[in-house]
Amino acid sequence: MLFQRRKPLDLILATAEKRSLKRQLGAFDLTMLGIGAVIGTGIFVLTAVAANKAGPGMMYSFVIAGAVCVLTALIYSEIAAMVPVSGSAYTYSYAVLGELIAWMVGWALILEYAVAAGAVSVGWAGYANGFLYAHGLGLPPILTAGPFDTFLMPDGTSVRGGFNLIAFLLALLVTWLLVVGTSKSAKVTTVLVLIKIAALTAFVALAFPAVNHANFVPMLPNGWGTPLSGVGVLGAAASIFFAYVGFDAVSTAAEETKNPNRNIPIGLIGSLGVCTVFYLLVAYAAVGAMGAQPGGALSQSKEPLAFVLRNIGWPRVGDLVAGAAILALPSVVLMMMFGQTRILFTMSRDGLMPARFSKVHPKYHTPHVVTWITGIFVALFPVSALADISNAGTLFAFFMVAAGVMILRKTEPTRPRPFRTPLIWVVGPLAMAGCVLLFFSLGWNPTIMFFCIWAVIGLIGYFLFARQRSHLAHGEPIELHEEPLPDIHK
Ligand code: ALA
Repeated sequence: MLFQRRKPLDLILATAEKRSLKRQLGAFDLTMLGIGAVIGTGIFVLTAVAANKAGPGMMYSFVIAGAVCVLTALIYSEIAAMVPVSGSAYTYSYAVLGELIAWMVGWALILEYAVAAGAVSVGWAGYANGFLYAHGLGLPPILTAGPFDTFLMPDGTSVRGGFNLIAFLLALLVTWLLVVGTSKSAKVTTVLVLIKIAALTAFVALAFPAVNHANFVPMLPNGWGTPLSGVGVLGAAASIFFAYVGFDAVSTAAEETKNPNRNIPIGLIGSLGVCTVFYLLVAYAAVGAMGAQPGGALSQSKEPLAFVLRNIGWPRVGDLVAGAAILALPSVVLMMMFGQTRILFTMSRDGLMPARFSKVHPKYHTPHVVTWITGIFVALFPVSALADISNAGTLFAFFMVAAGVMILRKTEPTRPRPFRTPLIWVVGPLAMAGCVLLFFSLGWNPTIMFFCIWAVIGLIGYFLFARQRSHLAHGEPIELHEEPLPDIHK
């Protein structure tokens, strides 16, 4: 019975049509949104973490995590083009795997999106506070970090925070941008994406000539790593997976996309492709130019790319790269919050979250209520160092989507598929195996343990609240709580 409560695909499409958001994004906007969501803390900060776990072998970590994401992007493209609605993995699971799994996927996606938005806001606030101090404009220490975080003062002392004012303000600013309109947010994102691409291009161009083959020895100081250990090449791959997270947020924009059947696959595969190429080049150049032994200088840096450039004789460009990170990381927060609001919006439309979450602003055509709720949550509870936990939620969702797409090939073989995943019976199982491998490489304590606790809370929430309120429970799955919008562009 539990797994029987499914929402038929035709019903999902009909519901989305009646409650649609304004369709204003094209293929270019989507690719930019994808890159905006992807290039962020992962490459600018966590490269050091990967070096610490794997040494020069972190290059393999980038390849492994990238391969899992490329396989997943091919799979997402098929289902997102078939079912272009804003709930992404949550909605696909609802159609194929049933309400309970869908709820769990939606629940796990809160880890992916909201936790990542909080983590990146805090990472950015760290850079911004450092910049303000360097220019004599530092905030009182109590306002530089949250109550559970510390801030490294310019004199090297570490102070305990109280309230992270900058992360708070950033989250509110991003929320406001999202409320006033996706298209405006997309324009801001495009500018920030170009800045990030310029920074990574400059890095590769300057670090490549400095590559020294001695820096690749020993290649695997910590070996390949064993499951649950969280170290070695696999442990680093599981962490650096965060650098690729975000391309799937493109699929949450499906209801705001013109011609989604064509544009969503372009956005998903295009954005991930661009980022993967850059990451592999950056990883090779960083290792080759500086060395990346665990415990070494690169592995301890909080701004590893800028650090490499400063050390190979390009201090000015190093500062510019750090500046680019400061300017551009907010686009990651924006996309993560965007994805989160669209998932909650869709869950609300299905009755699994409060009905107010799916209210759409009469003027801006954006889901303003849920956007403010998400924004205030991220602003008030920014959490740092949780990238691994975000990865756990994401890997769970990716696994379920791959399973769902394969099941759908069997159960609905004739349904039109504007994009077909090539070699699905190879790509699907490989993607699932990759997700399992990375999940267990995250390490038990605290990541997998936290994920298990989160899942149990989710299960309790489902049985206590969501299950009875689900529209499917009342046999009225497309019950509308408000009139359809007059201004719907299809
Ligand atoms: N991929 C995003 C980042 O690296 C989440 O910040």
